[in-house]
Amino acid sequence: MKGIITLEEALESSREEVVERYRRHVNPELANLLALLGYDRKFCRAEGMKIFDETGREYLDFLGGYGALNLGHNHPELLEALKSVLELPNIFQASIGILNGALAQALAEITPGDLNMSFLCNSGAEAVEGALKLARISTGRKGFLYTENSFHGKSFGALSVTGRKYQKPFKPLLPGCQMVPYGDVSALKKELMSGEYAGFILEPIQGEGGIITPPEGYLQEAEALCRKYGTLLIADEIQTGFGRTGKMFGVEHDGVEPDIMTLAKSLGGGVMPLGAYIASDEIWKKGYGSREKFLLHTSTFGGNSFASAVGLKTIEILLRDRLDERSDVMGRRLMDRLEKISREYSLIKEIRGRGLMIGAEFYRPKVAAKISGEYLAGMVCGILLQQYGIITAFTINNPNVIRFEPPLIVEKEEVDYVADSMEAICREQKNFLGVSLNIARKLMGRKMGFGG
Ligand SMILES: Cc1ncc(COP(=O)(O)O)c(C=O)c1O
Repeated sequence: MKGIITLEEALESSREEVVERYRRHVNPELANLLALLGYDRKFCRAEGMKIFDETGREYLDFLGGYGALNLGHNHPELLEALKSVLELPNIFQASIGILNGALAQALAEITPGDLNMSFLCNSGAEAVEGALKLARISTGRKGFLYTENSFHGKSFGALSVTGRKYQKPFKPLLPGCQMVPYGDVSALKKELMSGEYAGFILEPIQGEGGIITPPEGYLQEAEALCRKYGTLLIADEIQTGFGRTGKMFGVEHDGVEPDIMTLAKSLGGGVMPLGAYIASDEIWKKGYGSREKFLLHTSTFGGNSFASAVGLKTIEILLRDRLDERSDVMGRRLMDRLEKISREYSLIKEIRGRGLMIGAEFYRPKVAAKISGEYLAGMVCGILLQQYGIITAFTINNPNVIRFEPPLIVEKEEVDYVADSMEAICREQKNFLGVSLNIARKLMGRKMGFGG
C-alpha cells in the first residue's frame, strides 16, 4: 500500500511542508496571496484572543474567524462540553438526537418574535439554502429579493442572492432573483408590489459588503413592506448574530422581528461547524407540516450530537457572561479611538459599525498604483500582522475596508493596543505608503481576492 501521510506526521510538519502541501493539493493562488501578506505561517496553537506560530510568536486575533469566534479560540468550557458527549451516538438519524430539541428550544428562547422551529445544518450557506427553500414552499412564490453588495454564501442558491462579483462565472443562477440597493426603501417597495417574491434576504449590517450599517428606520420599513406585500423577511444573522453587534441579534437594534432567521458561524462557538435557520410555527407548518412534506429538506450531519452540545453551551456562556453588553462597551471604546485617528490623519475615510463589528475604510491614495490603492486595507492588515502581531482582514466585496471583529471576550488593554498600532501606522504614513507600494509592485499582474 502506498504510504499515506499520517495525522501525527501532518502535525509534526515544518512550516515549509505545510505551505507546500497546501500549494500542491488545495489552492496555490491563495497560498501565494497569503505568503505576500505574511500569513503563510504554521499557526500551531490558539487560546482565547491569541494565536501562536511555530516560532512561539504570539498574535492578537482581531478578525475572530470572520465572526465565528465570538467566544474566542478553543473556549475551555466548550472543549469540556465536547468531552461530556463523546460517548453519545454522534450521527444517528434513525432516531431523535437527544440534544436537537434542546438546541432548537434555546434558539427559540433567544431569538426575537415568534421564531420557534429550527432546522440544524453545518454552515452559513446551507442555512441560507434552507431559508430560501422554506420561503418558497411556504408562500408558493418563486422569486427572491436581495441587496447590492450583500454576502450570503457561495452555494448556488446563496450565490444567487449574493451581490456583485462572485456570481458572474457561475451563471445562470437561480431564476427570479432581483437585486435592490441596500437602504433604498422605494426601490424595495417597487419590487415588492409585484407580489412575486417569496422572500427578501437582508443582513442587519452588511459584513462582506464593507461593514455597512443600514440607514435609520430602513429595517423597520422593510419589515412593514414585506408584511404588507406577503414577502417573508429573511434576516441573515450569520455574521451579526450572537452578540457581535452589541445585542444578541442585529435586528434587535431596530426592534425588527423577521419571519426567518439564518444562523451559523459563532453558533458553533468556534469549535464545531454548526448552522441553522429558525422560523415561526406558522411558516414552518405551511412549508413542511404535512406527511407528504416533512422530509423534503434534510441533512446527514445537521444537528449531530457533538455540534449540538457545543451550540447549547455556547448560548449558555454568551448569556451568562453577557457578551453582547461587553461587545457594546468594547466596540464603543474601539470606535471612539478609531474615529479620533481618522480625524487626525488623512488615511482613513470613514469608521462604521456597531458593537465589535467595525470597519475602517481607507482613502485611495493618488500616488499609489491602482492595485495598491484598491487594496490599501489589505496592505495595512499585512503591516498590522508583521509589525504589531495583530490579525485582521479586509472585507470580501470591498477590499478597501479593514474589519475589526475580535472575539467578544476582548480586554480593554487589547482594544487600546490595536488602536495605538493603527495610530502609529497612520502617523508613519510615508513609510507605510512605501511598504504598500512595494507589496503592490509584487502584486502587479496578479488578480487577488479572498475566498470568504
Ligand atoms: C452574512 C453571511 N451570510 C452567509 C455567509 C456564508 O457562511 P458560510 O461561509 O458558513 O457558508 C457568510 C459568511 O461570511 C456571511 O457573512
